[in-house]
Amino acid sequence: MTEGPGPSLAKAVRDATAVLAAAGVPSPRVDAELLAEHLLGVGLGRLRALMLGDTPAPEGYADLVAERARRIPLQHITGVAHFRYLELAVGPGVFIPRPETESVVQLVLDWLKDRGRLPGMAHPKVVDLGTGSGAIAGSIAHEVPGAEVHAVEFSEFAHAWAAKNLLPLGVLLVRGDLRNALPEHNGSFDVVVSNPPYIPAEAIPNEPEVALHDPPEALYGGGADGMELPTAAAASAARLLAPGGYFVMEHAEVQAGRIAGMLERSGLWTEVTTHLDLNGKERATSAVLAPGPRGQSSPEVMKE
Ligand SMILES: C[S@@+](CC[C@H](N)C(=O)[O-])C[C@H]1O[C@@H](n2cnc3c(N)ncnc32)[C@H](O)[C@@H]1O
Repeated sequence: MTEGPGPSLAKAVRDATAVLAAAGVPSPRVDAELLAEHLLGVGLGRLRALMLGDTPAPEGYADLVAERARRIPLQHITGVAHFRYLELAVGPGVFIPRPETESVVQLVLDWLKDRGRLPGMAHPKVVDLGTGSGAIAGSIAHEVPGAEVHAVEFSEFAHAWAAKNLLPLGVLLVRGDLRNALPEHNGSFDVVVSNPPYIPAEAIPNEPEVALHDPPEALYGGGADGMELPTAAAASAARLLAPGGYFVMEHAEVQAGRIAGMLERSGLWTEVTTHLDLNGKERATSAVLAPGPRGQSSPEVMKE
């Protein structure tokens, strides 16, 4: 006896939504649709059209839904993360880029745009410290034609993903520690941007996708308050930027006041500004390196 046809696409997506909801997946319908889109190689509009007819569910759909129900990140299943205009290759060993980081890229673009007519700014020199998948560096390379973009990543696995994403975009990627990377470029960058690890040691994330699948070295900033790597990123920014250069860093909401205070007290920075994300949370800080002697910066000069 031959097996009859499987469930229709519409029923399979409905069933998948229920399975994912029961597993606690935060956006079950969206994920059910995205998994179907991935298998069928279509976008949402076409998927919805197919669901109106009697198209069968694609082969393997139930397996992918079962994986997602085990709280494997959607992006690890599909192998891609969407970030601004880029489709980044991602998987185990690399941090999945988050939507709020798209706003950090926008801060860089806005700053560059405001200074577009200044001499020397047609080819701005930018570095992304702790690049992960390359989301920030890749977006800047893609959206600022003529920019010279560098990226630094410490983890062997993340570096491999970054290489896949960034080399085709012409980004100069190095494997290194953001605390002392690129000494030959000291004092020469127009922009230093970073989304460093910043989670406090005790603040273990609740979502299994983050706690079990984002690499720990991408999450925890070091020290009880998670401030070691953000502090080191600020010190490196003072070392790497030319006077008048722009530093922008993502951080946790609770760290906003401390980061602004640290930058202000150091005497190295002007225009220290805290930025809100799309949810109105204080999730990024920028500053401009003051003219005059740079922080030949050990993290000591940036102590809180
Ligand atoms: C929060 S993730 C951000 C990744 C990416 N920039 C993004 O926004 O999606 C932090 C990244 O910094 C890297 N990292 C951690 N410590 C580092 C260090 N000392 N030097 C360079 N990179 C580091 C981690 O491996 C991880 O890829």
